[in-house]
Amino acid sequence: MKIIRVKNQQEGGVVSFKMIKENIENKKADTLGLATGSTPETLYQEMVKSDLDFSHMTSINLDEYVGLAATDPQSYHYFMEKHLFEEKPFKESFLPDGLAKDGKAECERYDEIINTHPVDIQILGIGENGHIGFNEPGSSFEGTTSVVDLTESTIEANSRNFDNIEDVPTKAYSMGIRSIMQAKKIILLAYGPKKAQAILDTIEGPVTEDVPASVLQNHSDVTIIVDEEASRLLSK
Ligand code: F6R
Repeated sequence: MKIIRVKNQQEGGVVSFKMIKENIENKKADTLGLATGSTPETLYQEMVKSDLDFSHMTSINLDEYVGLAATDPQSYHYFMEKHLFEEKPFKESFLPDGLAKDGKAECERYDEIINTHPVDIQILGIGENGHIGFNEPGSSFEGTTSVVDLTESTIEANSRNFDNIEDVPTKAYSMGIRSIMQAKKIILLAYGPKKAQAILDTIEGPVTEDVPASVLQNHSDVTIIVDEEASRLLSK
């Protein structure tokens, strides 16, 4: 694992964008795996500001809330439109369909998309409990796309984007850990004091399903970009 310490989220956006840009310009990245949430916002700002064109590229997102339409302002479809795709469209962009009638069929459809569009660079945030995508503690490292019950801590963390905590969906479609690990290159971003324990456990703790992100220790090309607060518990 390569660890890059940055001052703050702003600098993290600049540094992660530079890595992605180099890979795109060297024709090493055609398909990006994308995340939502507040963490990747500064990366997307850099992508939007840049003169890079993504219209020949494919994107595949990690997750979507069950029950939310793509047009719902709280959905991850909407987030991606507003933060990236409106300004920088990709050739094709995939997210799970929150309104799919048959959850199992939707998971199979999404796995097929992942298998036919291998991810070159996967962007990840991390939950305070160490989740990646919405693979909560205890998720199998062999998992593929599934409907996940969000934990209380995740619902609480995500409630900041909703009027009431009761409005936060309790289930989400999430790409599985096995699929995330198939990406050629992974960049995990973590900012702020609330991520410090998860970052310590991910980098210095044992590889365990109790800390989903610890699986990244088994991947051969992972870069973790952390700010001062998120890295403050690391021993070195
Ligand atoms: C979102 C996702 C989640 C978030 C994580 C951190 O697509 O996959 O794993 O990355 O919950 O969220 P923020 O960035 O809002 O702290």
